Amino acid sequence: MDIHIYDRILKLRALRNYEKRAVSATHVDQLIEAARWTGSSKNRQNWSFIVVDDPQQQIALADAGDFTDPVRNAPLTIALVQEPEGYEFDTGRLAQNIMLAADALGIATCPITLHRDEVAAKVLGLPQDRRCRYAIAVGYPAESAEPANFGGRKPVDEVRFRNSYGR
Ligand SMILES: Cc1cc2nc3c(=O)[nH]c(=O)nc-3n(C[C@H](O)[C@H](O)[C@H](O)COP(=O)(O)O)c2cc1C
Repeated sequence: MDIHIYDRILKLRALRNYEKRAVSATHVDQLIEAARWTGSSKNRQNWSFIVVDDPQQQIALADAGDFTDPVRNAPLTIALVQEPEGYEFDTGRLAQNIMLAADALGIATCPITLHRDEVAAKVLGLPQDRRCRYAIAVGYPAESAEPANFGGRKPVDEVRFRNSYGR
C-alpha cells in the first residue's frame, strides 16, 4: 500500500496561479506520456493532445470558454481532442491522469471547459469530425498558488448508496 499516493489523490486541487517560466520539455513529455497510457474503451485511444505554448494561441483558446483565466495565466495548455468515436469518459480519464502526473512532478494544473468548442476547433485547426471541449492549464505553481475556496466535498452520506439509489 502506498499511502503517499492515496494522500496525493485526496489532496489534488485545481491551481490557477503559475510561475511565468516555461514548463520544461522533459516535463511536457512526461505529462503526455501519462496521458498516452490512460486506459480507454476497448483500448481505442480515440484522442490526441495539442500542446499549446504560443501566447497568442493561448489567448485565442481562452476566448472559447467562460472561466479560462488559468489558460491566460499558464505558460502551457494541453488541449484534449476527442477523435471520432471517442468518449467524454476517456477525456475525463485523460485529464485526471495528466493532473495526477503533474502533481507528482510538482506541476500545478487546472481543468478548463471550452464552452464554445466551435471556437476552440477553429483556433486549434481541428478537422470537422474532431472536438475539443476540455483542456488542462499547466504551470509550475506560483508561491501564492492556493486552491479556490469553492467549498470542500459533499458528506459521504449524501452521495453513497447501497444496492439501489437513495438507500
Ligand atoms: C469537467 C471540469 C471542468 C472544469 N472547468 C473549469 C474551468 O473552465 N475553469 C476553472 O477555473 N476551473 C474549472 N474546473 C475546476 C473546478 O472548478 C474544480 O475542480 C472544483 O471547483 C473543485 O475544486 P478542486 O479541484 O480545487 O478541489 C473544472 C473541473 C472539471 C472537473
